[in-house]
Amino acid sequence: MPGLLLGDVFPNFEAETTCGRVKLHEYLGDSWGILFSHPRDYTPVCTTELGRVARLSGEFSKRGVKLIALSIDSLEDHCGWSKDILAYNCEKSECCKLPYPIIADSKRELAVALGMLDPDEKDKDGLPLTARCVFVIGTDKRLKLSLLYPATTGRSFDEILRVVDSLQLTAEKRVATPADWKPGECVMVPPNMPEEEAATLFPAGVFSKELPSGKKYLRYTPDPRNQGECVDTERSQTEPNSCTSLL
Ligand code: BEZ
Repeated sequence: MPGLLLGDVFPNFEAETTCGRVKLHEYLGDSWGILFSHPRDYTPVCTTELGRVARLSGEFSKRGVKLIALSIDSLEDHCGWSKDILAYNCEKSECCKLPYPIIADSKRELAVALGMLDPDEKDKDGLPLTARCVFVIGTDKRLKLSLLYPATTGRSFDEILRVVDSLQLTAEKRVATPADWKPGECVMVPPNMPEEEAATLFPAGVFSKELPSGKKYLRYTPDPRNQGECVDTERSQTEPNSCTSLL
């Protein structure tokens, strides 16, 4: 049975959190959203993850992204553990001062409904813990990206910021981002876009790599949010400076 699919409207669930009762869509408002789960409070990998998200919260806010965490522990545990996370980050603070709420899903209702459980990691009663799940939700409340890591592998939240950058760029401009892309680097022209349309849409230039097949599908253009910074007009039109290593 497929769970949530890309493009599905994300369920507008209600839940108890460290910042009070939350209804997801109202909490998100006009922002992007990230719902991320972790297996258990007072565990080492989770502490490093929630600490990292707290340190990166300014970067998420800059991108207009609201964060919300979830695990199957109680509110009381979340509040006690929040102090440890802040101490791990070398901050002295009171309970519930993490810059995002944590959902208390002690009955596992949301974890089951959203397909967040890791069958390989069980608690002392043999019940599965939540996996390390990430859902990125667009301003239209639809699912834009999901990641599912097992309990034993901590996530890279720098990577999650990177995918938010790609999702937000590709929501606005008709481009795609290549492997390991970072903002400012060349982006790809989608394969179904005719050459004439690409030439009009990307005045900074479209540069294609010669391939043994002779097919011109590997087409780059400078990051459209960084127009002008990327292309050296003195150079050949097949080699903009920041695309050189790609061609
Ligand atoms: C952790 O967060 O350290 C963890 C939690 C569950 C299983 C393995 C590791």
